[in-house]
Amino acid sequence: MATTALAPREDLHAKVRHQIPAIEWPVFAADIEAIKALKKRRNAVILAHNYQTPEIFHCVADIVGDSLALARQATEVDADVIVLAGVHFMAETAKLLNPRKTVLIPDPAAGCSLAESITPEDVRQLRRRHPGVPIVTYVNTSAAVKAESDICCTSGNARAVIESLGVSRVIMIPDEYLAKNVAAETGVEIITWAGHCEVHERFGVEEVAELREDYPGVVILAHPECPPEVVRAADFSGSTAAISRYVADKRPERLALLTECSMSDNIAIQYPGLEFIRPCNLCPHMKRITLGKIRRALETMQHEVMIDPLTAARARRSVERMLAVR
Ligand code: 13P
Ligand code: SF4
Repeated sequence: MATTALAPREDLHAKVRHQIPAIEWPVFAADIEAIKALKKRRNAVILAHNYQTPEIFHCVADIVGDSLALARQATEVDADVIVLAGVHFMAETAKLLNPRKTVLIPDPAAGCSLAESITPEDVRQLRRRHPGVPIVTYVNTSAAVKAESDICCTSGNARAVIESLGVSRVIMIPDEYLAKNVAAETGVEIITWAGHCEVHERFGVEEVAELREDYPGVVILAHPECPPEVVRAADFSGSTAAISRYVADKRPERLALLTECSMSDNIAIQYPGLEFIRPCNLCPHMKRITLGKIRRALETMQHEVMIDPLTAARARRSVERMLAVR
């Protein structure tokens, strides 16, 4: 007797079985099948950030990565529709780089505490206060803030972007901790802004000390949005893609990722032999994106990302300047 009717997409479930119990799988499988059919019908691709849950990351995404990889890949997409499984600024970046394509975000309320921390007027004031100092803006910002900036950066290329400017002083907004962590790696003086990631600011040095005591030999990897003292206490710090590469290359037997929870889930699926200690924090914005919402986005072609053309032209320049830095 055929088993497929009893156990839809067993191959996919085998991948995510530690995260999704067998009893719940039929519900996920129904959405996954519908999304696959809708992608064909709409000529759509799904770009998913590393913080998306495993059923999105491993079961329906076409392209996965950190903010930098998603921005780069967005320039090469050969489809009519891009669904961005991530937060709103990521969908805006994809739209900036694909003005003629339809870019959908499954939940437009998927924001970011960093993007919320600064307005275009704040950037104009900074420029007035520090005339001639270039403004480097983290991609975790609105298109309107990018439009007021000179160049963008991600956590994956912040150092290279700053060094590419060849100046001794820059303004780096809005993540104070990322700016301080980058300043520690470069000889450049960085004027910061007091924005923080609500997920990474919660990690502390006490937690790092406890991890080392409770789990001897643990290798601790921290995202650079963590406070500088946490980054200093960790064994490695890098963007979500750099963390993935570190695990792929070094395969530490016991490790802890000081970042969003789905990151460990997604990497653990790829490296089942490694022991992941999970002192993670959830990003409530990333978690707004679900399989059901991705399915509805493709069924209804909502919610489409729109950016005023004048703002888009100025913001695109900042993003393209960043992409030109290698
Ligand atoms: P990455 O660019 O490292 O993927 O980080 C994006 C982000 O929002 C981290 O909180
Ligand atoms: Fe923003 Fe932090 Fe969530 Fe990343 S993890 S999207 S920086 S709130």
